[in-house]
Amino acid sequence: PTIFVITPTYTRPVQKAELTRLANTFLHVQNLHWVVVEDSPRRTNLVSNLLEKAGLNFTHLNVETPKSLKLGLSWIPSHTPRGTLQRNLGLHWLRDSFSNTAPPEGVVYFADDDNTYSLELFEEMRYTRRVSVWPVAFVGGLRYESPKLSPAGKVVGWKTVFDPNRPFAIDMAGFAISIKLILEKPQASFKLEGVKGGYQETSLLKDLVTMDGLEPKAANCTKVLVWHTRTERPTLVNEGKRGFTDPRVEV
Ligand code: UGA
Ligand code: MN
Repeated sequence: PTIFVITPTYTRPVQKAELTRLANTFLHVQNLHWVVVEDSPRRTNLVSNLLEKAGLNFTHLNVETPKSLKLGLSWIPSHTPRGTLQRNLGLHWLRDSFSNTAPPEGVVYFADDDNTYSLELFEEMRYTRRVSVWPVAFVGGLRYESPKLSPAGKVVGWKTVFDPNRPFAIDMAGFAISIKLILEKPQASFKLEGVKGGYQETSLLKDLVTMDGLEPKAANCTKVLVWHTRTERPTLVNEGKRGFTDPRVEV
């Protein structure tokens, strides 16, 4: 089975470092297709060149988050949609690609560009029938959040402190969806409007599954295989007003 990884990304000083780290991880994974979706008005040379050189199967797309959306909601940090339009474009590309041809067996995974992914994670998700789930470290003010399992190994809730009654109280990094299900439910997408903080994942998943259909992975959700890391923004104060270093050097 193929793993389609959809990654939203945007221009900033650490972008090339983040994407380099991700590419190095993905090079160790068999049958992976990387769908990189830039939040920008056009595909940038930096990302194009990086993808050309990486040695991965990839698709390079772009869609800019409208300024009005960023500004309109920016006073509530958790409501600023980050990567939402980009993930939806990735889903659209998948559905479009396999509208006339037999779809490959496989899964879709949403991998933000700054997280840390173990290689084991990809083998866990590869054989998802509908939607698989697992713990994610460093989210919700906890060492890790996890689906809550019954003794029989069914998902019956969420081990989270923040709003555990959400239909799907799970981070973006904590689930994968089969291609088959994505194609069966062509309307399913992330919603931009009326999505409260922490409900973005629910806005997609509720169109696809119910809790009792979830497939727990990572040894019945007892192992942490992905970390919601965040990269510090570098201080570039010594660049001065004009830029001290050679602007032709790509960083
Ligand atoms: C958390 C969740 O883990 C994300 O999956 C969710 O998209 C995000 O919150 C959210 O606020 O909606 P967090 O670390 O706060 O993640 O978000 P970022 O890592 O800054 O952004 C998530 C993804 O969107 C990244 O791949 C990033 O490159 C991309 N992004 C971010 C854009 O494409 N455009 C932006 O303006 C900002
Ligand atoms: Mn992040």
